[in-house]
Amino acid sequence: MPIQSTPNIWFNGSLIPWEKAQIHIMSHVVHYGSSVFEGIRCYTQPNGAGIFRLGEHMQRLLDSAKIYRMPLPYTLEQLNSAVVDLVEANGVAPCYIRPIAIRGYGEIGVTPKGCPIDIYVANFPWGKYVAGDNGADVCVSSWNRLAPNTMPSLAKAGANYMNSQLIRMEADVNGYVEGIALDVNGYLSEGSGENLFIVRNGTIYTTPLANSVLSGITRDSVLTLARHMGMTVVEQALPREMLYIADEVFFTGTAAEVTHIRSVDKILVGKDGTIGPITKQLADEFFAIVNGLKPDRFNWLTPVKVRVEQPVGA
Ligand SMILES: Cc1ncc(COP(=O)(O)O)c(C=O)c1O
Repeated sequence: MPIQSTPNIWFNGSLIPWEKAQIHIMSHVVHYGSSVFEGIRCYTQPNGAGIFRLGEHMQRLLDSAKIYRMPLPYTLEQLNSAVVDLVEANGVAPCYIRPIAIRGYGEIGVTPKGCPIDIYVANFPWGKYVAGDNGADVCVSSWNRLAPNTMPSLAKAGANYMNSQLIRMEADVNGYVEGIALDVNGYLSEGSGENLFIVRNGTIYTTPLANSVLSGITRDSVLTLARHMGMTVVEQALPREMLYIADEVFFTGTAAEVTHIRSVDKILVGKDGTIGPITKQLADEFFAIVNGLKPDRFNWLTPVKVRVEQPVGA
């Protein structure tokens, strides 16, 4: 999907023109993958627009940076304001927001000493991420997710997405829209960019943080909704074959939102791969809140003053 540019990018405290947001080829991040980033959606509601769980996303950026010993010279409140200022200055909603902190140009060598930490935030229109209006056809990947003592899964670091690329490209060449990775012990982990949920006999299961997953903010939102709707939710290690005997399977993620899975490894989920009642209830509730059709009872939306366009990809 080509990126649609917007007028401004936030860079170290100021707005700069989109085309001026460039880095040197000898920047540390280019060679060693040293970036941490976020992906956030701004939705439109009948009376305006709101950024979904901005504070939680920016806190995760700070957490990712802390794990990698990258001190960011901004507070959570300053980072939140940076995002709001950018979205309002660009005047595009709905949109996808990409904050990123990188180790920049300074010295050569793996040790990042002497390389500045630069922070950018961009936003642009973006539509559906996991293809398939009638549900996604996915596979189990031959690639494992990151082993726990190699790369920290709780950090949303650019380098982790080399693993995600392997999972996604393998799925793509084999005709699937996404791959589900197992962890190094063979338990279910997550998709290349999504958390995984399984429904069986009325219970909702999702893989815990110890199975090399990102602590997804959509995952947390869906868990919150499910608990408030009186559903039974279990976070536990799950064997691969649960996918094949599940009544329902779905992904969550900022990009994927709530995406129902039709088949795994060409085995239809449930009876016929159609969206199941629990997935539908959760997806309907999620979209009703983010689209402003139901009250924002968990205070998930940060209002922004922008002229609202038609939803992208709707
Ligand atoms: C590997 C991975 N897992 C899960 C998720 C879902 O996280 P979130 O709901 O915070 O977007 C993402 C997306 O950021 C991801 O890249």
